[in-house]
Amino acid sequence: MMVTPLFLLVCLLESPCLRAQKTATCKVEGLTADCRHLSLKEVPADLPANITSLDLSHNMLPALPGPSLARYPQLLRLVASFNDVKSLESDMCLVLPLLRDLILHRNEFHLLTEKDLLHCSGLTRFDLSANRLKLKGEPFRPLQRLTMLDVSANGLTSARLGSIPQLWSLETLSLSGNVIKTIKSNDLAYLSNSSLQTLILSSLPLKTFEPGCFQRIRGLRNLVLDGSVFSLQLTAKLSEELSATRIANLSLRNVKLVSLTNITFKGLQDTNLTSLDLSSNGIVSLHNSPFQWLGELEILFLNENNLKHLTSSSFVGLGSLRVMNLTRALVKSHKSSYPIIDNFSFGSLAKLETLLMDHTAFQGITASMFSGLESLRHLSLSWSSIGLRTVSTGTFASLSRSPLRTLDLTATDISHLESGAFSGLGNLTTLLLGSNFISQVLTGEEFQGLASVEELNMFRNKNIILTQLSFNHMPSLSILILGLALAQNQDFNPSPFQQLHNLSVLDLSNNNIASVMEGLLAGLENLRVLRLQHNNLQRVWKSANPGGPVPFLQGLGALETLNLDSNGLDEIPATGLSGLFQLRELSLAGNVLDHLRDSIFHDLDSLRVLRLQRNLITSVPQGVFGHAFRNLSVLHMERNPFDCTCEGIMWFVNWLNTTNASMPQRDSEYICNTPQAYFNQSVVRFNSLSCKDMAPFQALYILNCSLVLIFMTTALLFRFQGWRLQFYWNVLVNRTLGFAEPGLGEARFKHDAYLIYAEEDKKLLSDPWCRRYKAYQAMHQVIEDSRDSVVLILLEDVPDHRLSQALLIRKGMLKSHCVLHWPLQRERVPAFRHKLQAALGSSNAVL
Ligand SMILES: *[C@@H]1O[C@H](CO)[C@@H](O)[C@H](O)[C@H]1NC(C)=O
Ligand SMILES: *[C@@H]1O[C@H](CO)[C@@H](O)[C@H](O)[C@H]1NC(C)=O
Ligand SMILES: *[C@@H]1O[C@H](CO)[C@@H](O)[C@H](O)[C@H]1NC(C)=O
Ligand SMILES: *[C@@H]1O[C@H](CO)[C@@H](O)[C@H](O)[C@H]1NC(C)=O
Ligand SMILES: *[C@@H]1O[C@H](CO)[C@@H](O)[C@H](O)[C@H]1NC(C)=O
Ligand SMILES: *[C@@H]1O[C@H](CO)[C@@H](O)[C@H](O)[C@H]1NC(C)=O
Ligand SMILES: *[C@@H]1O[C@H](CO)[C@@H](O)[C@H](O)[C@H]1NC(C)=O
Ligand SMILES: *[C@@H]1O[C@H](CO)[C@@H](O)[C@H](O)[C@H]1NC(C)=O
Ligand SMILES: *[C@@H]1O[C@H](CO)[C@@H](O)[C@H](O)[C@H]1NC(C)=O
Ligand SMILES: *[C@@H]1O[C@H](CO)[C@@H](O)[C@H](O)[C@H]1NC(C)=O
Ligand SMILES: *[C@@H]1O[C@H](CO)[C@@H](O)[C@H](O)[C@H]1NC(C)=O
Ligand SMILES: *[C@@H]1O[C@H](CO)[C@@H](O)[C@H](O)[C@H]1NC(C)=O
Repeated sequence: MMVTPLFLLVCLLESPCLRAQKTATCKVEGLTADCRHLSLKEVPADLPANITSLDLSHNMLPALPGPSLARYPQLLRLVASFNDVKSLESDMCLVLPLLRDLILHRNEFHLLTEKDLLHCSGLTRFDLSANRLKLKGEPFRPLQRLTMLDVSANGLTSARLGSIPQLWSLETLSLSGNVIKTIKSNDLAYLSNSSLQTLILSSLPLKTFEPGCFQRIRGLRNLVLDGSVFSLQLTAKLSEELSATRIANLSLRNVKLVSLTNITFKGLQDTNLTSLDLSSNGIVSLHNSPFQWLGELEILFLNENNLKHLTSSSFVGLGSLRVMNLTRALVKSHKSSYPIIDNFSFGSLAKLETLLMDHTAFQGITASMFSGLESLRHLSLSWSSIGLRTVSTGTFASLSRSPLRTLDLTATDISHLESGAFSGLGNLTTLLLGSNFISQVLTGEEFQGLASVEELNMFRNKNIILTQLSFNHMPSLSILILGLALAQNQDFNPSPFQQLHNLSVLDLSNNNIASVMEGLLAGLENLRVLRLQHNNLQRVWKSANPGGPVPFLQGLGALETLNLDSNGLDEIPATGLSGLFQLRELSLAGNVLDHLRDSIFHDLDSLRVLRLQRNLITSVPQGVFGHAFRNLSVLHMERNPFDCTCEGIMWFVNWLNTTNASMPQRDSEYICNTPQAYFNQSVVRFNSLSCKDMAPFQALYILNCSLVLIFMTTALLFRFQGWRLQFYWNVLVNRTLGFAEPGLGEARFKHDAYLIYAEEDKKLLSDPWCRRYKAYQAMHQVIEDSRDSVVLILLEDVPDHRLSQALLIRKGMLKSHCVLHWPLQRERVPAFRHKLQAALGSSNAVL
C-alpha cells in the first residue's frame, strides 16, 4: 500500500513541469520580478527578458554570475540581500549596462578589489551593509555616479575607503555599526572632491576626532552620530571639528550625554546649525546657557531626557528657535521630587512657535513661566503632571501676549475651569481639554474671550452639565467633542447648541443620553458629522413613545457622517433618516434592529459606507436596502442572525456576488441562523439556484389556483346561465346527429299563432296540439334549423323566467328580430307591422 504514493512522489519529482513551476513562482508584475524566499541557488532563467527590477532576496545564491544575469539586460535595480554571495564577478556590470541600484545587504562579501566594480560606473546606489568587507586598493573609484554608499556593519576599523579623491557624486555615506574608534585627519580625504552632504556615523565606538577630519568634506550638511557613547569632552571636540563646516543638522540621539556646559557647543558658533537633536540622552541640567552659541538654531530636540530644573539661563541664545520638543524631557521618578521650571525660563525664545511639553512633570505653572514667548502658536502640555486642578484667570496669564492658536491640556488633571480661565487667549482656535476630571455646570463664562475657538475637545471628563449659554462665547465653534463627558439625565432644553451655526462636527457619544427633544440640533445647517454612539436613544425613535418618535435629525441637510451605534435601537421611524441626502456614512452597529421599514433609507442618495453589524436583522430585502446599497463602497453587516431562505436573503446574496463594495469578514462572519438546513453556514454559500428550483412548485400552485377559479366560475355560470349552455348544447347535438324534424306531413298553415294573455287563459296553452306538439315542434325547429321559426310578440313586458316556466322558451333563444314588443303608441303600429312582416318573411333555415 505504501508503494503507490512513493511512486507518485518520484514521478512528480522527475516531472519537468514541476521544475518549471518552481521558477514560475517568482511574481512578475509589469517589469518587476519578485523572487524572494524561493530557496534559489541560481538566478532564474525564465523571467521576461525586459524586466527592469529583480529582487532575489532571502535565497541561497552563492554568486551573481554574469552569464545568467545577461538574460536581463534592461535591469535598473538588482536586489540580492540575504544570500551567500561572496564576491562580485567583474562581468556582472558589463552585462547589466543600465544597472543603477545594487542592494547586497547581508551577504558574505569579503575581499573587494579594484577590478570588481570596474564596469559599474553607472551605479547610483550601492548597499553593501552587513557583509565582512575587506577593501583592497581603491575598489570604489570607478563609481563616479554613485550618490549613496552604505558600508555599515562590516567590521571596518577605519572610515577610510580610499586614499585618493573619488566618489565625486556621492551625497550620502553610511559607516555605521563598524568598529571605527577614531576618525583620523585624513580618513575622509577621499571625499574631498565629492558632493557628500550626509555622513552617518551611528553606533560606533568612537573615542576621538583628529584635527581637521571633517574639514575635507566641503559640503557636509548632516551628521548623524546616534547611538554611540559621547562624553562631554568628545562632544566638545566634535563641535570644534565641525566649526569650519557647513553643518546644518547634527544628530546626537541616544549618546548617553548627561550634562551640557557653557562650552560644549562653543565650536559651533560660526556654523549655521539649524537643527540639533539631543533626544534620548540622560541630560539632567542645562545650566550656564549651553546653547548660547547656537544663534541660528531653529529646531531643538530635547525629548526623552531627565531635566530637573529649567532656569532663565537654560535657553539663552536661542533667538532663532522655532520648535522645541521637550516631550518626556522633565520627568519625576518615585524618589525624585518634581522638576522645577523657573519664571522666565523661556524668556529668550522670542521666535519660538511650537513648544511641546507632553508627558512631562513639573511643579506647576507659575505666574511668569511662559513670559517672553511672543511668537508661540502651539503649546502642548498633554499627559503632564503639573498639578493643574483648577484653571484660573492667572494660570495662563503669562501667555496673554502670545498669539497662541493651539492649547493642548489633554489629561492634565483639570477638575474645574474658573470663569475667564482662558480670557487672555483671544487668538486661540483649538482648545483640547479631554481626559480630565472636569465636573461642573458650564455657564459659558469659563470660555470668555474665546471668540476665535473653532475646536473644543472635552472628550472623557467627569460630569459636565450643559446650559443654554455654555458655548455662548464661542460662536465660531466648528468642532465640539463632548463624548463621555456629560452628567446623566440632562434634557438639553433649551438646546445648548442653538447659536453654533458653524458647527460641523458634534460628538455626544458615550453619554447615556436617553432623551432628546426635537429642536436639539435645530439650526445646525452646517453639521457634517454627528456622533451619538453609545447612548440610550431607543425610546426616542419608538413609535410607542408618547407623542410619537422624535425626528431629531430633521434639518441636518449637510450631514455626511452619522453614528448611532449601540443605542438599543429596535426601530427606525419612517422619517427618522429623511432629508439626509448628503449622508455618506451611516453607522447603526450594535443595536437590536430587526424588521426595517421599506422607506427608511430612501433619501440616502450619497451613502457610501453602511454599518449594521451586530443587530438582529434576519432578512435583507431589496425594498428596504436596494436604495442604500446602490453605490456602497463599504458594507458592514456581519454578525446578524440571517434567515437563509429565498425571501430572506436571495436578493442579498445575488447583490453581494456582484457588488464592488468592500465587505470585511464577508466569508467568515455572515452566518445563517435559520433555517436548520443552513444553520451556522456562511451566507455566501446560500444556493440561490434553489430558489429557481422552486419554479415548478410555483407553477403547480398557480395551476391549482387557476383550476379552482375556473371551477367556481363554471359553477356560477351554470347556476345563472345554465339554460343557455343547455340550449346551445342541444343545438350542437341535434345538428351533429342530424335529427330530422318530426314527421308531420305537409303543413296545413303557413304560420301558427298562439295567444297567451293571462293566468286564467293558461288552458288554452294546455291544448295538447298547441303545447305538446306545436310549441314543441317550433322549439325543435328553433334548436335544429334556425332560431326564427318562432316569433315572439309581447303585448306587455313578461319576465324571462315566467316565459320559460310556461313555454320552456326564453327570449335569449331567439334572434333579436324575432322578439317583438307591441307598441304602446299608435303611431308606432305601422313600424311594428313592418318588423313583423320582416320577421315572418325571414327564411326558416338561415345559417
Ligand atoms: C515584456 O515582455 C513580455 C513578454 O516577455 C511582453 O508580454 C511585454 O509586453 C513586454 N513589456 C514591455 C513593456 O515591453
Ligand atoms: C572633482 O570633481 C569633478 C566633478 O565634480 C571632476 O570633474 C574633477 O576631475 C574632480 N577633481 C579631482 C582632482 O578628482
Ligand atoms: C536637516 O534634517 C531634516 C530632517 O532630516 C531635513 O528635512 C533637512 O533637509 C536637513 N537640512 C539640510 C540642510 O539638509
Ligand atoms: C562658563 O561658566 C563658568 C562658570 O560656570 C564661567 O566661569 C565661564 O566664564 C563660562 N564661560 C563662558 C564662555 O561663558
Ligand atoms: C551662514 O549663513 C550666512 C547667511 O546665510 C552665510 O553668509 C554664511 O556663510 C553661513 N556660514 C556657513 C559656515 O555656512
Ligand atoms: C517630540 O518628541 C516625542 C517623544 O520623543 C516624539 O514622539 C514626537 O514625534 C516629537 N515631535 C516632534 C514634532 O518632533
Ligand atoms: C515666579 O514668580 C512668582 C511671582 O511673580 C513667585 O511667586 C514664584 O515663586 C516664582 N516661581 C518660581 C519657580 O520662581
Ligand atoms: C491675534 O493675533 C494678532 C496677530 O496675529 C494680533 O494682532 C491680535 O491682537 C491678536 N488678538 C488677540 C485677541 O490677542
Ligand atoms: C462661520 O464660517 C464662515 C465661513 O467659514 C465665516 O465666514 C463666518 O465668520 C463664521 N461665523 C462665525 C460666527 O465664526
Ligand atoms: C457613487 O459614488 C461615487 C463616489 O462618491 C460618485 O462619484 C458616483 O457619482 C456615485 N454614483 C452614483 C450612481 O451615485
Ligand atoms: C464594479 O466595478 C467595475 C469596474 O470598475 C464596473 O465595471 C462595474 O460596473 C462595477 N459593478 C458595480 C455593481 O458597481
Ligand atoms: C456567485 O458567483 C460565483 C462565481 O462568480 C458563482 O459560482 C456562484 O454561484 C454565485 N452565487 C450566487 C448566489 O449567485
